[in-house]
Amino acid sequence: MLGPLEVRGNGQALPLGGRKQQAVLALLLLSSNQVVSVDRLIEEIWGDHAPKTARNTLQAYVSRLRKLLGGRILTQSAGYLLRLDPEEFDLLRFGRLAQVGHDALSAGDASLAAAKLREALGLWRGMPLADLEIGLFAEMEKARLDQRYLSVLEERIEADLALGRHQEVIGELESLVTTNPLRERLCGHLMLALYRSGRQAEALDRFREARQRLVDALGLEPSPLLRKLHQRILTHDLEVPGPVEEPQQERSPARKRVTVLLAAVSMPHLDPEVTMRERAQVLERVTSVLKRYEATVEDRVGEGVLGFFGLPTAHEDDALRAARAALEIRDSLADAEVGLRITMETGAVLAEGESVLEGEVLGETVWLKEIAREGDVLIGAGMWQLVREVASAEPVGPDGPWRLLEVSSDAEGIQRHFDAPLVGRESELEQLRQAFDSTVRNRSCHLVTILGPPGIGKSRLAQELEGVLAGEATVVTGRCLSYGKGITFWPMLEIVKRASGDTTVSAVRRIVEDEEHARQIAEQVSSALGSGEGADSGEDTFWALRRFLEALARKQPLIAIFEDIHWAEPRLLDFVEHVADWSRDAPMLVLCLSRPDLLDQRPSWGGGKRNAASLLLEPLSEEDSQELVDALERPVSGDDRSRIIATAEGNPLFIEQMVALVGERGRCSGEPP
Ligand SMILES: Nc1ncnc2c1ncn2[C@@H]1O[C@H](COP(=O)(O)OP(=O)(O)OP(=O)(O)O)[C@@H](O)[C@H]1O
Ligand SMILES: [Mg+2]
Repeated sequence: MLGPLEVRGNGQALPLGGRKQQAVLALLLLSSNQVVSVDRLIEEIWGDHAPKTARNTLQAYVSRLRKLLGGRILTQSAGYLLRLDPEEFDLLRFGRLAQVGHDALSAGDASLAAAKLREALGLWRGMPLADLEIGLFAEMEKARLDQRYLSVLEERIEADLALGRHQEVIGELESLVTTNPLRERLCGHLMLALYRSGRQAEALDRFREARQRLVDALGLEPSPLLRKLHQRILTHDLEVPGPVEEPQQERSPARKRVTVLLAAVSMPHLDPEVTMRERAQVLERVTSVLKRYEATVEDRVGEGVLGFFGLPTAHEDDALRAARAALEIRDSLADAEVGLRITMETGAVLAEGESVLEGEVLGETVWLKEIAREGDVLIGAGMWQLVREVASAEPVGPDGPWRLLEVSSDAEGIQRHFDAPLVGRESELEQLRQAFDSTVRNRSCHLVTILGPPGIGKSRLAQELEGVLAGEATVVTGRCLSYGKGITFWPMLEIVKRASGDTTVSAVRRIVEDEEHARQIAEQVSSALGSGEGADSGEDTFWALRRFLEALARKQPLIAIFEDIHWAEPRLLDFVEHVADWSRDAPMLVLCLSRPDLLDQRPSWGGGKRNAASLLLEPLSEEDSQELVDALERPVSGDDRSRIIATAEGNPLFIEQMVALVGERGRCSGEPP
């Protein structure tokens, strides 16, 4: 398939018959291992002018092909199915090798990636389907294969670049950029290769040329990714890798803000040996909960366990995770016969990697333990500030500490209110609306990624879009979590639950009922989402989850929102790209929301796809910021107002928080919280 159509047996090319017969073969190959209906074959081969004899003629073609292929063509009630083993069909082999290469690249194994991707590309002998007369489907397939080839080529070059082969790839890239002038990823590779070869000025020239081409041809600015690369080249902010790269870790002591949790356990007085054993078991349980909430655990301090949230890297929901972990520990030990006291506080410490060297908060948690009663979860004033909006607690003294009772289940790290009316963002909403309209018009999939720093309003914008399109679209949302890594398809689990009510085979089946292969889809989806951690995330899972989304989209145009994909597992990102690449005949807007960190993890995100775009959310203008302050309807003095506008730099979350602080304290400290 990956060149002029050819079937080889005993080392020889076999005669394939006339053009129409070849076209039938090509169509069966393109949908290998799937049933292709007789009607579709006729439509593809003869278009609107099928003669009355078409059915019989088709049958004759198939029977000749069947002789040629030794019984691999099966007749089904709805049509024909060509059964092929991946190893005997170059298109399937290409797909498999490309996937292995892609995975190796994501996992950082550039030399394996380069080898596999080269092998995959080596299977191509020319333009597929070039001299066949077939209809629209095949035309689309042709374009898709072409794109697929280029993406794999881009990844191979990316692998080569990672291996320090920048000089070797320049020539190849120059000619690729000439033939594919709008492919930003190729252009980015070329810029990088030139820069790393000490040709910074030429790298910058290439960016200018690419930008000009994009503006002229599409009226678009280069993607944020390419702009970022340009910026980094401009400021020499890039490393030049040698043949082998060593990951570096930051190890020098640094001040960090962490939340410390101390869980102290006292045992009833039993035989000392029994006590020791039981204590060990309890501490084991505590430790495992803490680890699940991504705490760094320091074992066995005296009679308890210390957990740190925010090491080695701080997250905005550190305090919230600590609170949730504490309550879970308390509840899970409720019927154990042990005395448990949990105390927590947030503050600065001096830390090196995952260890805390010193910090007052440590002493604070120990002090809190002295005043805690058995069964208490006590939190200090620093932590209370961070969770008070989403937690209920009772004060133990006039200024705290607080006895934590409950945490609201849908709370986020910094609570968002979404209560002021939307300001600005008209053009962004319009762009999203247009992307949606085009998916509906073309019954196709569009991938749009909204990029921007925390609090800039990505989720809010998605929510507004949902409001605007209510009635026209089904909207489903899945969030990626900042903790609990290992649950690759978590966002899809949320989406499927939202759409089907549950993830059982029968619940899923109700949604995909009208689809071909409904049973397989339902079984695969249910098993991939139901079986938790070790779930297979191979091709079959991708296929089934994609078909699920397509089924939803065929009922009513779909907006599938993936929130916070900077926290996504690499396989989930692969899946989203898979949907964008492979979904067909289903109107679907895949909307990804992400902080810019995503591009460090996946620099190629969305690159090289004709149906992908990104939208960088800029800060609010000063005028919009003023409007937001007014809309929040809190008394703010003129001085405070100017300070807030200046410090928040157009970030609506900061504006909201600072306005709230002014309301509480009667003045503004001038620092974003
Ligand atoms: N254009 C806007 N008009 C009014 N309020 C806004 C606007 N944009 C954002 N906000 C408010 O600012 C807060 C933060 O917005 P949002 O949660 O959407 O940020 P985000 O970009 O999704 O952040 P994160 O990366 O942390 O998820 C919310 O309370 C939201 O309602
Ligand atoms: Mg958000």
